[in-house]
Amino acid sequence: MGAVGVSRGLQAGTGSLKKLLSLQNLHFSSQAQVECMAPLFQTVSETPKPVQAKVFGTIPEWINGSLLRNGPGQFEFGEDKYNHWFDGMALMHQFKIKNGAVTYMSKFLESDSYKLNKSQNRIVASEFGTLAVPDPCKTLYDRFMSKFKIDSTDNCNVNYVLYKGDYYVSTETNFMRKVDPEALDTLEKVDWSKFIAVNGATAHPHYDPDGTSYNMGNSYGKQGTRYNIIKVPSQKSASEETLEGAQVICSIEPQEKMKPSYYHSFGMTENYVVFIELPLKLNLMKIITSKIRGKSFSSSLSWEPDFQTIFHVVNKHTGEPHSVLFYTKPFMSFHQINAYEDQGCIVIDLCGQDGGEDLDALSLQNLRKSEHTLDKVWCTHENLQDHSREEYGLEFPQINYKYNARKYRYFYGCGFPYLVAQSLVKMDVQIKKPKVWKEKGFYPSEPIFVPYPNSVEEDKGVILSAVLTPHQDKNIFLLVLDAKDFVEIGRAEVPVKMPYGFHGIFVPQKS
Ligand SMILES: [Fe+2]
Repeated sequence: MGAVGVSRGLQAGTGSLKKLLSLQNLHFSSQAQVECMAPLFQTVSETPKPVQAKVFGTIPEWINGSLLRNGPGQFEFGEDKYNHWFDGMALMHQFKIKNGAVTYMSKFLESDSYKLNKSQNRIVASEFGTLAVPDPCKTLYDRFMSKFKIDSTDNCNVNYVLYKGDYYVSTETNFMRKVDPEALDTLEKVDWSKFIAVNGATAHPHYDPDGTSYNMGNSYGKQGTRYNIIKVPSQKSASEETLEGAQVICSIEPQEKMKPSYYHSFGMTENYVVFIELPLKLNLMKIITSKIRGKSFSSSLSWEPDFQTIFHVVNKHTGEPHSVLFYTKPFMSFHQINAYEDQGCIVIDLCGQDGGEDLDALSLQNLRKSEHTLDKVWCTHENLQDHSREEYGLEFPQINYKYNARKYRYFYGCGFPYLVAQSLVKMDVQIKKPKVWKEKGFYPSEPIFVPYPNSVEEDKGVILSAVLTPHQDKNIFLLVLDAKDFVEIGRAEVPVKMPYGFHGIFVPQKS
C-alpha cells in the first residue's frame, strides 16, 4: 500500500467544540441569529401512542419501515438543569411509513439514569457535561467515598446500532440498551466490559455485508490504556445472548498513556480498519479526580495540537497493524464519511476542522514515538467542498451503506453555517458539486438514504430527514427527497415538538 490520500470535508467552525455545544451557548446563540433556536434545545413531552401525520405531496408506497431518531429530550429534573446538549435524556422517535401514510411516536429511553433522576426529581446520575451533586441524605462517609467512583451512564442518546440482528441504542460508555424498534420499548442493559476487556465503544460501528460488526473502544486495564478494535459476529446461536462471541482483534497503544485521544468514529475499508488518533485528548488523571475537583467528564477533554494526528491502519482479517505510520497535521473530526481502497491507496473522507492554528512545523518537532522504527508517511488532504459556499460546515454524513468501504460517489449531510443545520446537502465527490435543499425557518436533521428495492444505482432511492422548527405555530415534518435530483417528493407533518437530536436509522418492515 502506498500513501494514504485524505479527503477532508468542510470546516465546521473554530473554537472549543465542547464549549460551542454547551446548552448555555446553544440558547445564547439564538441572539446572534435571525430566529430564536432555544425551543430546539428544550424539554418536550413524549408521544407514546402513534399519531397520524398529514401528508403533502407523495410518500412513495415502496417505502415500508421506520425512520428512528435518537437525541436528547429532557434537560432538567426538578431544580437541576443539565449543562450540555449531550447530557439530555434519550428520547427515541419513530416515523413509521406504510402504504404512503406516516405515523409518529416517541418514548423516553427507560435507562437507569432516567428512572433514578425521575424518581428523585433531581439529577442523580452524572452525564458528559454535568456532574451530579451527591445525595444530601447519604452519610458523610458515603459521600466522600462516592467521589472516587467513576460514574458511567446508560443514557444512550446518540445512535441506534445493530449487533447480531438486534437493535440497541448507544452512547460511548460501556453500557448500551437493547430496544424494540417497533414499540420503542427499552429492553435489557448490556455492559461491553462483561464480554471483552473494554470500557466503552463508539456509537458508530461499521458492518460487513454479512452483518459482522466492527467497533472501537478504550480499555484502562493492567497493561495500561489501549485503543481496541472490536469484532462482533453476525449471527447468534440459540443459547447466545447480546454480545457473546465479541472479540478484541487489535489493541493499539496511545502516543501518551495517560492522555489517549477522544474519537467518535473510525473508518473501515474492505480489508482495513482506519483509526485516527486525534489531538483531542482525554486526560485520565483529570477523569480520575473529576469528582474531587467538582468537574464533569467534559472538563477532562483538551485540544493539544502538539500531538500529531496519526492514522493507524489495521488489517481487519488478521488484526495486524500496518508497518507504516501515517500522520498529518492536527485536525479534529467527529464523523468519517466513507473509506475505501483504490489503486494501492486508502482514501478516507471525513468531516473535519482545523484546530485554528497552523502547527505543521511544531508538529514535526513534537512527533511522538520518535524512537519508533516504523516507516512514516506524511498524508495530505483535499477539500471536498468550497468553503465559501452557503452550506459551509457539513456534518452528520450519510451514504448509501451498500457503498460503505467501497469506492463511491455520493454522500449526504447537513449544512451547518452555524450551530443548527439549515440545509441538506448531496455531495458528488467526483465533481465536488453539491445539491442543496433548504426552507426558511426549518432545520433538517441527519439525512438517511433508503434505497429503492433491488436498485443497483448508488443514488436511486430517497432521503428521509426529520425537519424541525423553533416556531410554535409551525409543525415539524418528515421530509422525503428524491435522492437523485434532491427534490422534495413529499412531507408528513406532525403537530409535536421535537428537540434537535443526533443520529437515526431506517429499519425496514419485516415482511
Ligand atoms: Fe455521531
